[in-house]
Amino acid sequence: MKGIVLAGGAGTRLRPLTTITSKQLLPVYDKPMVYYPLQTLLDGGIKEILFIVAPERAADFMRLLGSGKDFGAEFSYKIQDRPEGLAQAFIIGSNFIGTDDVTMILGDNIFVGNDSFLHDSIKTFSKGARVFAKKVPDPERFGVVEFDDKMQAVSIEEKPKAPKSDYAVTGLYIYDNSVVERAANLKPSARGELEITDLNNLYLKENSLDVSIYEGEWLDTGTFDSLLDAGIMIRDLKNKK
Ligand code: DAU
Repeated sequence: MKGIVLAGGAGTRLRPLTTITSKQLLPVYDKPMVYYPLQTLLDGGIKEILFIVAPERAADFMRLLGSGKDFGAEFSYKIQDRPEGLAQAFIIGSNFIGTDDVTMILGDNIFVGNDSFLHDSIKTFSKGARVFAKKVPDPERFGVVEFDDKMQAVSIEEKPKAPKSDYAVTGLYIYDNSVVERAANLKPSARGELEITDLNNLYLKENSLDVSIYEGEWLDTGTFDSLLDAGIMIRDLKNKK
């Protein structure tokens, strides 16, 4: 299993914080944001990790994270010239992935609590694809899962105006190797991006997408409020220990 941390993008919603640095390098309490999703991959037993970053921030990521030696892993870096969609990661990362399976995590997603469930999901993954859904108060901001009455996923919609459930797809995705070819055949959406939701729906149509409910805390730190909430939550957890 290989790992990808997707940490590109312009972070426009967090300006001026992101005018001179990357969103994923901003502090979340006592660490740069990217440390948290990185730790999720490391705890899942992944030893080879690719960071996909924006061109103007590549040097900062490399200076911070280095070869991976300090983390007991091997890190590599690839540049995404423009933020053309989450699923582009599997095109940019195709050589790195080779013939292996791959877990991707978004560089601004923090998972806290019930984490052995996530780590075991990575370690025991065998085929198809696996995503994690979390009940949220504002599903229209995310990819949203529609379930049938047996809680089987039937569709995923990207940022729907009228969400069919309160369950958001989180930014942790586990795929078999067929993701490389599937991503290469995707067409850009109306907003001009290669959508991870389109990729997930391809697996779903073939009955090979597992949607697991995640019971722990999940933070997408893409707004000022969620960034502050994440810092406070991490501090409180640390103080409890
Ligand atoms: O956080 C989970 C959500 O992430 C999912 O529920 C959605 O289905 C998925 O589309 C995504 O939605 P976001 O609105 O959060 O995506 P955003 O464009 O903010 O990008 C997420 C992160 O990925 C962000 O830290 C920037 C980075 N990114 C984004 C794009 C589009 C890249 O590195 N490259 C890109 O091309």
